[in-house]
Amino acid sequence: MNPILRNWKKYFPVNDFQKKGVAILDFGSQYTQLIARRVREQNVYSQILSPEASISIVMESQPAAIILSGGPSSVYDEDAPNLDPDILESDLPILGICYGLHLLAQHHGGVVESIGQGEYGFSEILPENKSGLLSGISSPSQVWMSHGDRVKQLPEGWQTLAYSTNDIVAAMANDDQSRVATQFHPEVAHTKEGEIILQNFLFEIADCSPTWTVGNFIQEQIELIQKQVGDGKVLVGVSGGVDSSVVAALFHKAIGDQSTAVLIDHGLMRKDEAKECVNSLSEGLGINIHKFDESELFLSKLKGEIDPEKKRKIIGNQFIYSFDRIAGEMGEIAFLAQGTLYPDVIESGVSKGQTAQVIKSHHNVGGLPEDMEFELVEPLRELFKDEVRNVGKELGLPLSLIERHPFPGPGLGVRIIGEVTKERIRILQKADQIYIDILHEDNLYNEIWQAFSVLIPVQTVGVMGDQRTYENLLGIRAVSSTDGMTADWYRMPPDTLTKISNRIVNFVRGINRVVYDITSKPPGTIEWE
Ligand code: XMP
Repeated sequence: MNPILRNWKKYFPVNDFQKKGVAILDFGSQYTQLIARRVREQNVYSQILSPEASISIVMESQPAAIILSGGPSSVYDEDAPNLDPDILESDLPILGICYGLHLLAQHHGGVVESIGQGEYGFSEILPENKSGLLSGISSPSQVWMSHGDRVKQLPEGWQTLAYSTNDIVAAMANDDQSRVATQFHPEVAHTKEGEIILQNFLFEIADCSPTWTVGNFIQEQIELIQKQVGDGKVLVGVSGGVDSSVVAALFHKAIGDQSTAVLIDHGLMRKDEAKECVNSLSEGLGINIHKFDESELFLSKLKGEIDPEKKRKIIGNQFIYSFDRIAGEMGEIAFLAQGTLYPDVIESGVSKGQTAQVIKSHHNVGGLPEDMEFELVEPLRELFKDEVRNVGKELGLPLSLIERHPFPGPGLGVRIIGEVTKERIRILQKADQIYIDILHEDNLYNEIWQAFSVLIPVQTVGVMGDQRTYENLLGIRAVSSTDGMTADWYRMPPDTLTKISNRIVNFVRGINRVVYDITSKPPGTIEWE
């Protein structure tokens, strides 16, 4: 077994700044991660646990409060997710949201029933009691609802804190408000005073500590890293993106040249990206980083291949071979550091109250060798992307790196539809650079979650300066998203689209037509391959 799995607790002990945070039990709501982020925005640590987590798992991080999330089930269904009843009897204050409200109602003897077609979207609530949870809330106050059930009868001794304008119990509490609940979603931005409600819960009702700050995180991680690696050598795999760059900067700050950052250039990165990343880390921050140009190898392996899955496999496997060889050349390496983030950990089930065996060796490209000899160190495994960006800022990484859109491990290999050749990489890199430059010029880049170009192996007829042209088609894509799991196509202003298409067709030899992708995810995926 990988030693990191055996010693998981040793490597990730509960730090002081994580105590007095919030344990969130996830009953399957699409908003659970949002709850965790909203709590952290108040500088309070939060972690998401499985609904099956026992009271002892919940208490491990010494939380000051518990939040029960929403979820798609109905509490009266036979197979409805339930929780350890000891949690509901604990001394910790509890906030139930939507399904969490129904759970509290049912557990304490109230009655929950269906309301037919449900209530989804904007609604208004009228507070009955403006102390405690709803202290400082307007009347009426705009909220966001998403539910098919309601509380028909409150538990004995409980009170309604607010009704919605259609007479549904919108918020309720027990007599001392150590149990509070909302039918609406305070974590969603459409709930206008949601932040005040969460603050009331965290700081007025519960005794949470606002100690989850970037400065604390960095300081604690530095101490942890120093303790964990001793005088062992650490290899940091850098991909050109923000997560791995932040890891490299963190290790540099903690142990200096005892860590070596390695960037394997597969030749499928955006134009100049590998060079810019290495420059900003080495010249800007003095990080000991080496770039290995493996592009010819990758290209030769990709020759003639047009199947998307086979291309991904080829790139992933070659990455492993190259990485293995390069690591071997670096001498005695005891640790490998990588930029795994909290959403990856949640998806893998680790934080869900299960044991550590399910830790995923998530990697940007295609997984690492299974018989890897190093121990894995993942200092960002507690963070969301926006928190990583804040850590990066604090560590002095340049904004151009911190704000960079996500980029897939197989890089342009999955954005060049059909065969990957040097010439096609050149065409796509040039077109994509123009596209992204224009998004910066028009101040749109930071509004968009991810934007990129796709080279399509179809030629179309055009006319330029009275000459017939017969060249490649380019697709451009821009999406809004929070986590890449779902995405909406970005409503790009027509003037920007015009500028992009004109400049690309005029300046990139080999492209004579540009199309804009208006597919959301689902049913599409973000990448085309
Ligand atoms: P899809 O295309 O699945 O992409 O909707 C969702 C997000 O994941 C990125 N992506 C990858 N990231 N390795 C990665 O590190 C990969 O193999 C990979 N494939 C897709 C994609 O860019 C988008 O942000």
